[in-house]
Parts: sequence; structure tokens; C-alpha cells
Amino acid sequence: MANGAMLPPDFADWDATRLAAEVVVHNRLYWDKNRPELLDTEFDRLVERLRVVSPLHAVLDALGPDPAARVGRPVTHTRSMLSLEKCYDEKTLRDWAAKFVGPVIMTPKIDGCAAMIRYGVDGRLEVAATRGSGTVGEDITGNVKRIDHLPHRLPEGVVGPVEVRGEIYLSLSRFARLAGDFANPRNTAAGALKQKDPDKSAAVGLQFLAYDVVGAGCVTESEKLRLAASWGFLPVESEVLERDALQAGYERYVERRATLDFEIDGVVFRAERVDEQERLGFTSHHPRGSLAYKLQGESGLTILRDVEWSVSRTRIFTPVGIVEPVSLSGATVTRISLHNWGLVQAKGLSLGARVVAVRRGGVIPYLESVVEAGDRPITYPETCPTGGFKLIVRDDVVVCSCTTGCAGAIVGVLRHFVDTIGIEGFGDTWLQILVDNDLLSEPADFYRLRAADLVVFDRMGETLAQKLVDQVAAHVEVPLAVFLAALGVSGLGASASKSLAGHFLSLDRVRAAAPADLLVLPKFAALLASKVTDGLRAMGPHIEHLLEFVKVIDEVEVSAARPTGGPLQGKTFLFTGTLSLMKREDAQASVERLGGKAASGVSKALGYLVVGSEGKAGGKLQKAQEAGVTVLDEVSFMALISQAEASLTP
Ligand code: IVH
Repeated sequence: MANGAMLPPDFADWDATRLAAEVVVHNRLYWDKNRPELLDTEFDRLVERLRVVSPLHAVLDALGPDPAARVGRPVTHTRSMLSLEKCYDEKTLRDWAAKFVGPVIMTPKIDGCAAMIRYGVDGRLEVAATRGSGTVGEDITGNVKRIDHLPHRLPEGVVGPVEVRGEIYLSLSRFARLAGDFANPRNTAAGALKQKDPDKSAAVGLQFLAYDVVGAGCVTESEKLRLAASWGFLPVESEVLERDALQAGYERYVERRATLDFEIDGVVFRAERVDEQERLGFTSHHPRGSLAYKLQGESGLTILRDVEWSVSRTRIFTPVGIVEPVSLSGATVTRISLHNWGLVQAKGLSLGARVVAVRRGGVIPYLESVVEAGDRPITYPETCPTGGFKLIVRDDVVVCSCTTGCAGAIVGVLRHFVDTIGIEGFGDTWLQILVDNDLLSEPADFYRLRAADLVVFDRMGETLAQKLVDQVAAHVEVPLAVFLAALGVSGLGASASKSLAGHFLSLDRVRAAAPADLLVLPKFAALLASKVTDGLRAMGPHIEHLLEFVKVIDEVEVSAARPTGGPLQGKTFLFTGTLSLMKREDAQASVERLGGKAASGVSKALGYLVVGSEGKAGGKLQKAQEAGVTVLDEVSFMALISQAEASLTP
């Protein structure tokens, strides 16, 4: 002991309590703080005195370093803790499995913290460490010893040195019960492992699943897992598969993912035969006999707190989930896409629900699954905040029932009608006065106006009143394309109306058309088609009223000019994974109608890779990311299509 202080002369009079307190202080200064204040001989005298005064004092059993103080000290691995080679598609998996013989063992890739636990020749747990750099990890012995199903000694007769390797993780159910600002189970587990106070670490409730045993001479991977189980460990769940069943095995985990009580970020495949693994050997990064087939994107568990409704220009109300902040692929996410009302219902979503959010390819995160229902139902707003119209559900989507525009916009609708039809003389001021006096509320009302109703207003002489009524009367015969365009249906401007009129030839046939019937027309992609048919349907009563006065002149000539170009001209799109919001053919048709092209493979020239919400994106995603191609999820793709469509609509 460096400083060399002496005990005071009266120390021989101290009682056991005073002596024990001094022993604790100087033991810590020596072992844990590396700042001894007493000479070694003086410390020994102190301990001996306590032993005389109180031979069984607990402090005498606790001499030496504090186990917690070991936390974080470097531990050199006897054999490097390597990483795993990653793959994203079936072909890579198949090619990998072709490199060795014998079956393949499959285990879930748990998203936790790798750990090794070393047992000495006497079978006692010697040290536990994190993976760290792979060569040197950090001591976590004190905390690991507090984990359940983790033996401190191997059974009688089992001799070391031997190492059990596995994943320390926090179950989703325990994570959900923890209060506080924890980003995700993995970070929480890592924090708990590095805790200096083992009691605090133990309170978190970490678990350990063994996936490897090093040094026991096993000949298969399953034998290692059985051996670990016989020693008292919980081994990771496993299945031994023939090589033609690997992809199906992976897909079973994709399906089960949301039902597991731990997060997984992939499925680990390993050659079942240890001799085959040894034959394949290692790179400096990974063993060649093992492969991690990654699940797509990063998912995280969070809680749905609220739902906001974002309103599009076309009055579609889209639910946006407000969630507890969760870290996904390095970004803190608080808002997730819930797609549409149909999905909210199909997933049985409720407020307070525990949900898995996924962020794939760095784009908008979305709701993947509901792990546990919440306690409050989700409802959509009853009325549109702008116009106060009732909101209704149509084809899984919440839309505003307002057909002619919101109350404040009615003048605009009437203005559009007269301008399109060619009725002159109605300035905005007059339109507003007539709306305010309940003479105008829909286009058909123009035809109901009589001069006698108008002359009652200031500055409206008989001449002007008659002129307005005559103007209306001069426009009772209206060509179909003009009539359609005058309705003010969103997406049905002059050019789209011409196109519809030219194709369907009569108003009845236009009104009877389904969205799919419109898709054959240039410029009509899926979204625009249903917007137009919906809009026409919603305008039904107003059209009926107009037809009491107006004779629609059906189209006699088919306009066949197919426009070239389009907002997506020169852009290529490739689709991968299963699209859940639209059929792939429809998505491709939309791209083509807007002037873009569907591509068949990933190259640097590819404009966009659209990744479906379901199934797997596979190697295309990886390649696209490597090639710097823009990756879109379905919601972003649909937003892009809507924008392109909007640019077509005059
Ligand atoms: S086998 C060479 N099986 O994944 C390592 N690893 O990305 C062989 N991991 O640090 C490991 N679950 O901690 C294996 N079922 C599992 C696993 C698993 C999670 C971790 C492991 C490693 C990381 C590699």
C-alpha cells in the first residue's frame, strides 16, 4: 500500500462496528478505488483485530474486490467471438447450403447482446463477458450471475475449461412492463448488463438463451444445445432441416415473429455437423458454416398512444399512429403509417395497443402487427373539420361525404360550373349574395332562378336579372365532356372529361363505369380512376337535379389521340415483396399510364425500388441499396403516383 498511513494508537479500543466500518472503507480504497491509504501491514492489523473482536463478522467474508466493480473490465476471449454473414434472399441461402453436406440447424436470431460464460477446470463460472470487439469483451460476471437458468457451476464430473455462448435479452413482455425512457429491449438489456449495481441489473429481468458450446467436443450443433440444457441453461429453440426446407423454415419465422416474446432480426442457419463447419473455416468476420437470413427492416415494439387523421387534397382521411418514441434503424420514430381505416380494423388496432413498428429501407415506418390489444377503441372523426360534412367509409378509406366542396367553397364550385358551361354575368359578389340568400346551393339552382327572384336585390335591375336568366337558358344543351368537367369532381378536369366522353359516349355509361373500366384510358391510373368514379357517384343527386333542366349532348366522335410523355416519363420502377395496398399489375399499370416504365431488375439506372409491405423484399432491396437506388414503401409510392396524377389534372 503506497501511502503508508498508520492506524491511530487508540484503535485497540474500537468496537466491532467501528472496526468493520474501517475495514470496509480500506478494502474498497485498496481493491476498487486503487487509492490505498493504509500500509498493507496496518490493514492486516485492522482485519486481525476485527477477527478477534467479532470472529464471524460478515465483513470478513466480503474482503477483496467488489464483484460489481469488475463490470466493464476487459476480458480477452479465448476464441474470437465472430459475427455472422448476412443474407436477404433464398438463392444466397441455397448457394450457401450447397457448400457443405448434412442437415442444417435453424435457430431464431435473437436481437439482444452476445455473451460468453466461461467455466474453469473446476466447473465453476469464472467469467462472463460481452462480445466487445470480438477479441476483447467487457466483464459482466456480477450481472450475468443474477440471470435465471444460468448455472454458477457445471454439474459434478463436467470439467472445463468450457464456454457457453448465447444471447442475453429482455423479453418483450418484461420490456413492456418497464416504466421509463427505454428505446427498445436490446438497448435496455445492454444498459442493464453494464450496470455497476448487480441488484439494479437483476431488477430488469434479463434472460439468456444458449446457442453455442465451445470446448466440449460435440459433433453436432443440436448436441451442443442438448448439452447446455442438461447443464441447466435454456437453449435457443432449434430445428434441424433438410436443405430444401430452409426457405420455408425462414418464412415460418416471418409469420411467427410477432408472436415471439423476444425480438428477432433474422434466422440463423448453421451446418449441423461440426466437422463440416470446421472444414469450411472462418473469415476474419464470420464462420463460413453459419449464415444469418435477415428479416426485413428494423422492427421495434412501441405503444400506440393516439391516431391523427391527415387529410389529403382529395378529402381522403388517412390515419397516422402517434407512438411512444422507438428507435428503428437508428432513427427515433414517433409517427407511423397506419395505411387506411381498413387496415386499422383488420389488425384490430386500439389505443394503448402494443404494436410492432417497422422501418424498411429507411423509409416511412409503418405498423406491422399488434402484439397486445389496447384499452380504447379508435374512431374516425365524425365530421370534416373544414366543411363540417359527415365522414364516411368507402372501400376501406375514410372520405368526406361532401360532394360539392366545403361550405366555404360552394361559391368556388358554382363559379367553376358557370365558367365551364360558359354562362356569363355571374360575378363572385352576386354568387355570394345568391348563396347567402339560399337561392343557390348547387349547380342545378342556376336553372331554377327566375328574374322575379333576382330583382329584389339592391343594384339588380330588371335588365340584369333578365340577362342572367337568359344566359342560363342559353346553356341547357351541354356537350357530355363539358358537362362532366363542369361538375367539379376531383380528378375530372377538361382533359380527363374529354377522354371519358370520347370513350363511353354517353353520360349513363360514364356513370355506370367501374374504376377498372377507366384504366384502359390514357392517363387513368388506379388512384385517379377510383377517385373519379367515387366523385361521380357522390355527385349523383346533383347530376339528377341538373338533368331536370339540362340536355347532355352525347359524344359522337371518339377522340383517339393518345398523349405521349407523362409526369413519370424516363423513370423506371421495380416492385418487390407483396404489395398489400394494391395489386402489382395495377401498380405497374399506373406507372405506365403516367409515362414511366416497369423494370425487371436492379441496376444503377433504376429509378425506384418499391418494396411491398408483406412478404420479403429479398436481394433486390440489398442490391438497390448498394446501387444507391431510391427505395419507396407502398405509402410513399402511392403518394408519388397521386402527385403525378395530380399534375395531369388541369
Ligand atoms: S450463432 C459466429 N445463433 O448474432 C456467431 N448467433 O450477428 C455464431 N445471435 O453476435 C452465432 N441469435 O450473438 C447464433 N440463434 C443465434 C443467435 C445468434 C443471435 C447473435 C450473436 C452474434 C450475432 C451475429
